[in-house]
Amino acid sequence: MKVVLVGYMASGKSSIGRLLARDLNLEFIDLDEFIENQLQKTIPAIFSEKGEIYFRKIEHEMLSMVLNEKQSVVLSTGGGTPCYGGNMKTILEQSNHSLYLQLPVSTLVDRISNEKNDRPLVKNIDNGDLLEFVGKHLFERRQFYAQAKHIVDADKKSIEVLVDEIKKIL
Ligand code: S3P
Repeated sequence: MKVVLVGYMASGKSSIGRLLARDLNLEFIDLDEFIENQLQKTIPAIFSEKGEIYFRKIEHEMLSMVLNEKQSVVLSTGGGTPCYGGNMKTILEQSNHSLYLQLPVSTLVDRISNEKNDRPLVKNIDNGDLLEFVGKHLFERRQFYAQAKHIVDADKKSIEVLVDEIKKIL
């Protein structure tokens, strides 16, 4: 079974994916970590040394590679993965279940304001401007996330509760 988690930055894709995979006894892959291992560079270093377009190209290639090669996997994507290069189509065609972890802008902003450093797209945005930025950005991206097979309301729920909800959906 191939399960793919999508959603905005800080929506909990990695922590939920890791626990879900453990419970289902499936391999877990975090696409950002996978890219970092393949390139032996951190995501911020890839962005600063090679730029976002290069990152999107690698992200596209690695997504296809993982979904082609793995028969069974829980894959957590990066916040931008479904929004570029036809990646959402690939996710829909190549997975059994795709899930959008949906959270309101206010919750995302609260979380992101405390976890900006490893996220090149928001690193230089003042906390006071984050609400406007995330609001607009999510508005643009939501059309991609919303194509996922299942939409999970992920606000104000623990990781354990969310994993249980997702297991019932699968
Ligand atoms: C990005 C999200 C990040 C990472 C990169 C770009 C994005 O992943 O892939 O910094 O475009 O939203 P997380 O969603 O895990 O933060």
